Amino acid sequence: MSDKDAGFTYIAKENLDTESSYRLLVGCVVPRPIAWITTLNEDGSVNAAPFSSYNYVCTSPPMLAINIATREGNEKDTAVNITARGEFVVNVVNAALMDEMHRSAANYPAGVSETAALGIRLLPSVLVQPPRVADSPIQMECRLDQKVVLGRGINTLYIGEVVGFHLSNEVYDGHRVDSRRIDPISRLGGPFYGTLGEVIHKPMLQRPPGGEGWIGAD
Ligand SMILES: Cc1cc2nc3c(=O)[nH]c(=O)nc-3n(C[C@H](O)[C@H](O)[C@H](O)COP(=O)(O)O)c2cc1C
Repeated sequence: MSDKDAGFTYIAKENLDTESSYRLLVGCVVPRPIAWITTLNEDGSVNAAPFSSYNYVCTSPPMLAINIATREGNEKDTAVNITARGEFVVNVVNAALMDEMHRSAANYPAGVSETAALGIRLLPSVLVQPPRVADSPIQMECRLDQKVVLGRGINTLYIGEVVGFHLSNEVYDGHRVDSRRIDPISRLGGPFYGTLGEVIHKPMLQRPPGGEGWIGAD
């Protein structure tokens, strides 16, 4: 049975240019977590921008990966800063921070600090130079591990090791992070965001990585 008869549309890669691939991927890969990344510009001012092509990719040691595209052929400020200094902070975005985070995605000229322009409160980091967003419930200090240029070169994956976690007492009880208490937001297709919605409990069926002390489903 053809896709059409089965109620589907089939699109082969030959029919996809960069823009249509982007539109399809951001519609299909949902919901996406958002890394609000702080870096230092060349003059020491603070850059902040959101990235939703993002996830954790390694647990030993903890590593995150963010895909940053070029903008009209040029590297975005975050990419330039990570390459130059090898350090960045990933700040988790909750519903209360959504508007500031969204506004920080405007194309500010290089060297103009989004955090200063938007009045975003900052705290110093411990092991890296870029500061963290004070009102974010979780901030992860990262050092660049490797850069991987993908496909035709528009996208580059920045893989960073998390060298320190800052966990607000509001979301961390000393043992685990309570996702509900983060009140995280996600990026959907097009100009849409999502909130957490219903949270469903299912017992874990296998030991988590490194879970030697695991005593069963929780
Ligand atoms: C919610 C959200 C998610 C985004 N995700 C990405 C992404 O994954 N990769 C990317 O290159 N740009 C992404 N952008 C666009 C960048 O944030 C935008 O280009 C920004 O101006 C980059 O800032 P910079 O030049 O200071 O690094 C996203 C924007 C928003 C609002």
